[in-house]
Amino acid sequence: MKGTIFVELIKMAENAFGENAVDRVLDKADLENDGAYTTVGNYPCSELVKIVVAFSEHSGIDPVTLQKMFGHWMLAHFVAHYPQFFSDKADAFSLLESIEGEIHVEVRKLYPEAELPTFSTERTAPNQMMMVYESPRPLAAFCHGMIEAALAHFDEDGGITSQENPAEPTITNFEITLQS
Ligand code: HEM
Repeated sequence: MKGTIFVELIKMAENAFGENAVDRVLDKADLENDGAYTTVGNYPCSELVKIVVAFSEHSGIDPVTLQKMFGHWMLAHFVAHYPQFFSDKADAFSLLESIEGEIHVEVRKLYPEAELPTFSTERTAPNQMMMVYESPRPLAAFCHGMIEAALAHFDEDGGITSQENPAEPTITNFEITLQS
């Protein structure tokens, strides 16, 4: 997993809990290179999960909520650093539909070592979309947060429900319904 993701997670934690608390939490957690990450490095996703658990224990915020918060943070980061992917989209559904065939395709060209999920989307009503997220990494809540943030980016209100099936642990089905 790209170092940028780790660097941003730690920035979010510093913003939420303060630098001293972050240093203490990272020291206590059993991390490779003592929790020092660079944007150009690549690190195992299991380290990210350990960091989320450590901040959850520190703050009392459950890991799912923390992952969602991080999804919001990351989307803001992408809007600031890759505005071209957002400026030509009319709405959140168009953005979500473009991840698999456009955005992550470009990400893969820039970073061939990136570990990316797979998405498929289907509009089931004018105000409703089904989005199937598939990844071997346990980041469905992070994804959920990014979808919420995508709606907020376009000033859209809506509900997002997620459904997992224990028989297919790599798949999460999101149903996104816009208020119309
Ligand atoms: C709403 C829009 C987006 C969603 C829902 C989304 C979803 C995700 C998710 C869930 C992951 C974690 C990897 C996994 O689950 O297996 C991921 C990774 C990533 N995404 Fe996206 N993404 C979005 C937009 C973007 C944009 C605009 C960029 C900007 C270039 C981007 C770049 C990346 C990168 C660099 C990674 C990390 C790959 C790695 O660590 O190796 N994504 N994305």
